[in-house]
Amino acid sequence: MPRDPRYDILFEPVEIGPVTARNRFYQVPHCNGMGFRWPRSMAAMRAMKAEGGWAVVCTEECEIHPTSDLSGFALMRLWDDSDLPTHELMVEGVHAHGALAGIQLVHNGLSSPNRMSRLAPLGPSPMVIKDIDPIQARAMDKSDIRDLRRWHREAALRAKRAGYDIVYVYAAHDMTLLMHFLLSRYNQRTDEYGGSLKNRVRLIREILEETKEAVGDTCAVAFRFAVHEVGGDLAYDGEGREVVDMLAELPDLWDVNVSAWEDDSLTSRFGPQGSQEDFVAFVKQITTKPVVGVGRFTSPDAMVSQIRRGVLDLIGAARPSIADPFLPRKIEEGRIEDIRECIGCNICTTADYLAVPMRCTQNPTMGEEWRRGWHPERIPAAGSDDAVLVVGAGPAGLECALALADRGYRVTLAEARAELGGRVLLESRLPGLAEWRRVIDHRLYRLSQKANVETYPASRLSADDILDFGFPRVVLATGARWRADAVGRANRLPIPIADDATMISPDAILTGAPLDGLAPKSRLLVYDDDLYYLAGVIAEKLVADGHEVVFATPAPEVSPWTHGTLEQAKIQARLLTLGIDVRCARSLAAVANGAATLACVYTGARESLAIDAVVPVTARLPNDALHQALTARADDLARAGIRSVTAIGDCHAPATIAAAVHAGHLYARQLDAPDPGPIGFRRENDWGIGAARNTAANGS
Ligand SMILES: Cc1cc2nc3c(=O)[nH]c(=O)nc-3n(C[C@H](O)[C@H](O)[C@H](O)COP(=O)(O)O)c2cc1C
Ligand code: SF4
Repeated sequence: MPRDPRYDILFEPVEIGPVTARNRFYQVPHCNGMGFRWPRSMAAMRAMKAEGGWAVVCTEECEIHPTSDLSGFALMRLWDDSDLPTHELMVEGVHAHGALAGIQLVHNGLSSPNRMSRLAPLGPSPMVIKDIDPIQARAMDKSDIRDLRRWHREAALRAKRAGYDIVYVYAAHDMTLLMHFLLSRYNQRTDEYGGSLKNRVRLIREILEETKEAVGDTCAVAFRFAVHEVGGDLAYDGEGREVVDMLAELPDLWDVNVSAWEDDSLTSRFGPQGSQEDFVAFVKQITTKPVVGVGRFTSPDAMVSQIRRGVLDLIGAARPSIADPFLPRKIEEGRIEDIRECIGCNICTTADYLAVPMRCTQNPTMGEEWRRGWHPERIPAAGSDDAVLVVGAGPAGLECALALADRGYRVTLAEARAELGGRVLLESRLPGLAEWRRVIDHRLYRLSQKANVETYPASRLSADDILDFGFPRVVLATGARWRADAVGRANRLPIPIADDATMISPDAILTGAPLDGLAPKSRLLVYDDDLYYLAGVIAEKLVADGHEVVFATPAPEVSPWTHGTLEQAKIQARLLTLGIDVRCARSLAAVANGAATLACVYTGARESLAIDAVVPVTARLPNDALHQALTARADDLARAGIRSVTAIGDCHAPATIAAAVHAGHLYARQLDAPDPGPIGFRRENDWGIGAARNTAANGS
């Protein structure tokens, strides 16, 4: 289909200094957990964005020197020429599809513990660093500042040699040395680099000028600048605006956002699409240079509105480009219904946090482009005529059915509930999680376009039913259920729970079942040993329902796994603001009628709480009864012509929604496919060590 003329404006080229972006779709810098450690995986992922129609594809932050060493994280580096091949690989892949390649040079100053290089961190003033390592940064003297300028210039020249089209100067996210120089709380210098705003901006100006002078003939120089700190010192109507005023025409491109990172990559639980507009809208009124901004933009109408109303020139995207690398192409080809919209869950940022190849809830192929050869829009044709029965239409079952259907298999999808979607359906009704429904909506829409899929809601199947049907392939995606006995990490074995105590399973809350015997305004203990989002969301819901909530967890803080999704502080603040009585480092020791006993995880000291009921959010049990029943009947399966019965997703091993989607996709890819070998994916271990050892052994 031709594209809707309403979206033509998104496909206009934009001049950025000496280079031209072919359209307005701009993949802003984002880490991916691959970087220099898995360069082929990283490069293939970036090339995929270019193939998907993004006009600009940037690297993640790229360290320019070992005094900016974020070892532990797999970012990019350009310390010296030995880093060049990784960059060349990426630039080649991006250019092959007609996109511009951008590089985000950075010195992370006070944010760099330098754990590998073991060099002293650098800052504008002597100060403890921003990480928890017990080390301090030393104040940079004039020769250090000269060195920094030289390192940046040399890195820019190397970037140009690698073939980049856009070179960044980066002062954002409360994370970079240039931002540390800008902010008075870090910069207490009394020389010409401290004090007045003009002095605090001096280093940024020098580096912008020197980068332009070094590479500006062929490369655009972009400035990523946080115009506003949410809850910080820099304000879009204060110094943030003054900085833009002072540097207005200096960069070729303004890439503007808010700080800190958790406010920039805001999850959907805490803010909607386009939430940065009020902060960044002023920039275009000040500069004639193109402006790119972000805001989890997935709607082409919202994008057009940003351009037409003069807020932005280029639509910046990190997460929308991760969830759907082909977003621009789908708009261009008039297929906006096919866009796999980001749900704003930040599973992608957990991979950066944990330094593993990035994953995405919506896009199971993310991070798998090179190592498994997965393309987000293409999948090999079916390897046989086998019909497949998928039992369970949660995230694993829906994705599995869709990917199998894309391959051309005849698929029957049966779901016990009247409505499809499994856990996502239930969880997306909880406070703040409405956007998560996109996991279902995308797949149901695409399945509805398929002639080779039949869907049966309200169809609970027994083992006998499945044997009677005799589909050659059976996939079980029957999900999991929450335990109601508080067994989890802290309590690996059951604790004493009185027969007349009230334990409310999270499933009862998720399904909206009547909470029998519970007074309208009860005092409830939400006990979180799951450590992710669900307990916090349930606590919010119970407060909204009028209950009084005590939130206890064995962890030293609320929802610790959400550090990776950038939400921990926001969740803890929300629970406290709602008046929830938060008790950390407490495990649940016993439950009686009307009381719960908590134990300090360090001393074992016990305290009794008067409560009406406990909601234990601790662990799940796989719904694997059907799998067990079928696999116990090998002879019946053979007689029925059933060649395989496979459990996937939560009924195999309960995990995240992203893991369930991935499991569904993996099954579909592997059905009748050549054996991928014992590991199943390619690794990047070819460091030449073997060759060197062989050479040494041969005496040559
Ligand atoms: C996984 C991930 C990694 C990121 N890494 C970087 C980075 O290296 N440098 C940077 O300036 N911003 C980084 N960001 C922030 C994004 O560039 C972007 O400003 C933010 O996510 C908001 O845009 P979005 O709503 O389109 O995701 C990262 C974001 C994500 C999701
Ligand atoms: S992991 Fe979640 S937030 Fe990140 S891109 Fe995918 S859907 Fe969006």
